[in-house]
Amino acid sequence: MKKYLITSALPYANGPLHFGHLSGAYLPADIYARHRRNQGGDVVYISGSDEHGVAIMLNAKKAGIDYKKYVDGWHQEHKEIFKAYGVEFDFFGQTSAEYHEEEVVKWFHELNAKGLIETKINPQLYCNDCHNHLPDRFVEGTCYKCGYEQARGDECPNCGELIESTQLKNPVCKICESRNISEEQVTQYYLMLSKFHKEYREWFSTKKDLWRKTVYPYVNSLTEESLHDRAITRDLDWGIDVPLAEAKGKKLYVWFDAPIGYVSNTKQFFKESGRSEDYLLDWWQNKDVELSHFIGKDNIIFHTIIFPVMSMASGQAKPADEVPANQYVNLEGKQFSKSTGWYVDAKKALDDFGQNALRYYLISLIPENSDSSFTWDQLQVKVNNELANNIGNFMNRCFKFFQKNWAEGMDAELFDGFAKSSYGEKLTVDLKAFNESVDGFHIKKGLEQIMAMGFDANNYFSDQAPWAQIKADKNEAAKTIAFSTQYALVLGVLFSSYLPDLSQSILKYFDAVVSSEQKSALYQGDLSVLKDIFAKGFNVEGSVDALVPKIDDKVIKALNEDLKTI
Ligand code: 2FM
Ligand code: ZN
Repeated sequence: MKKYLITSALPYANGPLHFGHLSGAYLPADIYARHRRNQGGDVVYISGSDEHGVAIMLNAKKAGIDYKKYVDGWHQEHKEIFKAYGVEFDFFGQTSAEYHEEEVVKWFHELNAKGLIETKINPQLYCNDCHNHLPDRFVEGTCYKCGYEQARGDECPNCGELIESTQLKNPVCKICESRNISEEQVTQYYLMLSKFHKEYREWFSTKKDLWRKTVYPYVNSLTEESLHDRAITRDLDWGIDVPLAEAKGKKLYVWFDAPIGYVSNTKQFFKESGRSEDYLLDWWQNKDVELSHFIGKDNIIFHTIIFPVMSMASGQAKPADEVPANQYVNLEGKQFSKSTGWYVDAKKALDDFGQNALRYYLISLIPENSDSSFTWDQLQVKVNNELANNIGNFMNRCFKFFQKNWAEGMDAELFDGFAKSSYGEKLTVDLKAFNESVDGFHIKKGLEQIMAMGFDANNYFSDQAPWAQIKADKNEAAKTIAFSTQYALVLGVLFSSYLPDLSQSILKYFDAVVSSEQKSALYQGDLSVLKDIFAKGFNVEGSVDALVPKIDDKVIKALNEDLKTI
C-alpha cells in the first residue's frame, strides 16, 4: 500500500485562524489526505501548534498571561476550529511539549556532529532598563531603507526589507518601551547552509518539472549562487534550550524547531495511537513514502530550502517530495488583518452557514496560482447557484421521486447497464481524469470536475424527464431513477474528499449495500462494482431532506453592512 506523509504548516498559537489559513494550507491538505485514503493509500496527516518565538512572547506579555497558558489557549481554540471545518489531522501536537524538545535536541546534535552548526559573534541590541536582549520583533525603530517608523527588528512591514536590528534608527524596546538601548557583541549559533550548497542544488534540480511555477523559479533564483547561513539561536526565556553546556541561557530559534514538529508529532501520534510502526524507518526515512508539505507562500523558504537541508544533512528525514505552496486569500481584495478589524470570524461563519457551504466556497478560493478574494456575495452565489442548484437539487429530485413511486424498492435488474451505457462510460473517463488532477495536487480543479459530473447527472435526469416517462411507461421511469441513483452514489463517494458532511448525508442511503472497498473502486473509476452493490435490489429508506440550504439575501446583506462599518 502506497504511503503518504502529509503536513500542513504548524499555525502559530498566537491568534485566531482566518479563511486564508483554511483555504491556503489546511483544506487542501485535508482533501489530499482524504483523497489518498479513498484510493486505498496509507496516509498520515500531521500538523500542530507552533508555540515559540518573539511574536508569541510579546502577545502573552501584553495579555499578562504566562507563555505556556497563552499557547495552550490558542492550541485548544485552533483544534476546535479545525474540527468544526472537518479538517481531520491524524495528530495535532504542540511544540512546547516535552516529546518535541527531545526530537529537536537530537536534530541539533546530529547537525552539530556533521559540522553544520558554527558560532559567530555579531552585534545585538540590549535594553538597559528591562535587561533583555532584543532580537527580532523585540525592537522597533525607523527603517533605514524607507523611513517607516515602526520597522521591526527582523523586517520592515512597509518596504519588506529584511532588517539588521542594529542599524534601525531610534530603536525602542518593545518589552518596556525604553529607548535606553545599547549594542553588545553576542555569540549565536548558525546553521551553515552554505556548506551544503552543492548537495542541496543536486536535490533541488530534480524538482524542476514537478513543483509549481510559483515555487520552483523563485527558489531557484534564491539558491543558484549560494545558500546563506542562518542564526538558529536567540537570547530569550521562552523556547527550547540550546543543548550545549556553553550555550546556557540561549534558546533555539522558532524556525529551527517548528518544522521538526512534523517529525516529533508523527512519533507522538504512533505512540498515542498504539501503532507499532517506526516513525523514522517506516515513514520519515522511507524513500517509498511520498512527503508533501502544504503551506502558504510566506513559508516557501523554510520548506524548500532550510528544512530540506536540515533533513538531508542530519540524515534524520527525507526531504520533501512536493511543496504545494499557495498564494494568499484576501477579504474583498484586501489582506485579512485582525488588528485593523478587516477580518471575518471563521467560527461565527460556521454558525451562519455550516461546514458544507463554507468548505465549498473556501475550496473554490484555494489560491493555487494567484491570490484570491473572499466576498460574502460570492459565497451566496456559489452555494445557491452551484452546490444547492446542482448537487442538492439533483439528490433531492432523485431520492424523492424514488421514494414516492417505488416505496417498496426496485429490483436488481433495473440497475443493470449503467456502467456500460454512454453515461457510465463518460463517468468512468471523468473519474479517471479527476483522480489524475488531485494526484497532481490540483485540488481546486478536482472540485470543478466533481461539479461537472453532478451537472451531467442533473442533465440526465432532466432530459429523461421521469415525471413524464412514468405516465407512459413506469419501467422506463424506473430505469431513469435507477441510473440516477447510481450517479448519486458515485457523487456521494466523490464528495467524501471535499465535503465529508455532505457525502455522509448522501451515503447514508447506501450504507447497507456498499462496502469501503467498493467505494474505493467507484472513487477510482471502476464502475463494474455497481453490479454487486445493487445485486439485491435497492430502496431509499429514511426521510429525504434538503441537503443544501440556500443562503438568504438578508443574511448576506447584514454581513456586508458589518464589513462596511469597519
Ligand atoms: O507561518 C507560520 O504560521 C508558521 N508558524 C509556520 C510554521 S510551519 C512549520 F515549519 F512548522
Ligand atoms: Zn526594555
